[in-house]
Amino acid sequence: MSSIEHHVLDPGGDDGRPDRNLALELVRVTEAAALAAARFVGMGDKEAADKAAVDAMRLVLGTVRMDGLVVIGEGEKDEAPMLYNGEQIGDGEPPQVDIAVDPLEGTTLTARGMPNALSVIALSERGSMFDPGPCVYMEKMAGAEDIADLLDLDRPLPDTVRLIAERRQIDVRDVIVVMLDRPRHEDPTRQVREAGARVRLIADGDVSAVLLAVSDRSPIDLLWGIGGTPEGVISAAAIKCTGGSLVGRLWPRDENERTAALDAGYDLEHQLTADDLVTSDNCFFSATGVTDGDVLQGVRYQGARGASTESLVMRSRSGTVRRVRATHDRAKLRAVTGQQHT
Ligand code: FBP
Repeated sequence: MSSIEHHVLDPGGDDGRPDRNLALELVRVTEAAALAAARFVGMGDKEAADKAAVDAMRLVLGTVRMDGLVVIGEGEKDEAPMLYNGEQIGDGEPPQVDIAVDPLEGTTLTARGMPNALSVIALSERGSMFDPGPCVYMEKMAGAEDIADLLDLDRPLPDTVRLIAERRQIDVRDVIVVMLDRPRHEDPTRQVREAGARVRLIADGDVSAVLLAVSDRSPIDLLWGIGGTPEGVISAAAIKCTGGSLVGRLWPRDENERTAALDAGYDLEHQLTADDLVTSDNCFFSATGVTDGDVLQGVRYQGARGASTESLVMRSRSGTVRRVRATHDRAKLRAVTGQQHT
């Protein structure tokens, strides 16, 4: 066992004592970010919402005992003063971990008061998270465990939809594919409809959509589409905890990005799996709802100073998935954290 594994797995000796579950500390991080962002729900200012979430996340994340490296952050240091790619975070003590953050997944959803905005973080052993380099977008396909072997970005989408119907012994018209509503998806949307299946178009938020697609209790059978690469890595961490499957392929936006990616050694044909995107089998995930959604309830204000949150807190190694409902005293939180937006 390497020293990194030793620190992260922290198995607590051979006496079978349970080890530390970092996800239980991460839930405070996403709760803080969600509470801060929720102040801006429906206010029409996505930058302010995002900034509030980043500030709050950074503040609480700094208190976690870890030597964290932001691999998937808010962007390059020049444009992101906090939680930028490469930033060291935590108190510097072991374990050494990679961190992927999306303090506000669905900035526009939040600004417009629309469903499915989340605050989300994933953490895994140092060196185990995929660094997307210059590639901002990725073509993704995700679904539940029973159709894992059918996920293939090279097969025409209508054929995959038919295979899913066959596998699930349902009519093709009962298959639902969730996609981001984007002009780049117009042809595939038409093709899926022509095959007889249905499409649920979403304005934003494909992490939430992946969580829905991989759940065998949701009406969604498949996620397909070109979305953010950071969201792809975060979704992969979630899938390693919940089960289900995802394949992704880097999708350069233009020739410059393609050349930069090829020069940096990226394989643009390769279909990456969740295990490629997060190679460690010990990862931690926490998401807290900002606005009400299919997966999580959003922040609810209660009376003059109360608020409640709902979070999904998971760990791949144990496979434990927790839903954490918390009530918060905003006045006390403000006193403790100094966060004005809470
Ligand atoms: P933001 O929260 O940064 O606005 O991202 C939301 C999102 O919809 C992601 O869920 C998705 O992966 C990505 O944007 C898609 O990018 P684009 O809006 O450029 O098509």
